[in-house]
Amino acid sequence: MITVNVNGKDHHVDGDPATPLLYVLREDLALNGAKFGCGLGQCGACTVMIDGSAAFSCLLPISLVQGRPVKTVEGLGTAERPGVVQQAFIDEQAAQCGYCIAGMIMRAQALLERTPNPSDAQIRSAMAPSLCRCGTHMRILRAVRRAAEAMRAAGTSTSTVASR
Ligand code: FES
Ligand code: FES
Repeated sequence: MITVNVNGKDHHVDGDPATPLLYVLREDLALNGAKFGCGLGQCGACTVMIDGSAAFSCLLPISLVQGRPVKTVEGLGTAERPGVVQQAFIDEQAAQCGYCIAGMIMRAQALLERTPNPSDAQIRSAMAPSLCRCGTHMRILRAVRRAAEAMRAAGTSTSTVASR
């Protein structure tokens, strides 16, 4: 039995310790925001936050996640009350098919919690491991800048719930 803390809640998982975190999130916990894209750490669709940093959940066995807080896109807000980064992606209409977006949002969240006022170069570098097959990269970059401004205006880099 392995205990995985996701979005502040402990879950006891009875399975192979080598099972990728992504499978547990989607199949056991019904947290379907993180997506399976490549399964090889090459696309970023599965990105979540672990210990405050962006990570590919397709590559991480649950045995390595025990005792480390996991945050998924579901932990940032709800459809009714989106988080700041989620709201910025909505405002910039950054999604086309949407498959990459949960991973993009988690990567942006991790960046802005560490670096509240990132340069364009820092944003591009932080977002680079996540790919968008639809090619909405420019809108995604605008969304990250918008989220950074909104977080600074709110006086916090860790706010997850939008003020409106
Ligand atoms: S599914 Fe994890 S990086 Fe592609
Ligand atoms: S919006 Fe379709 S893959 Fe990014």
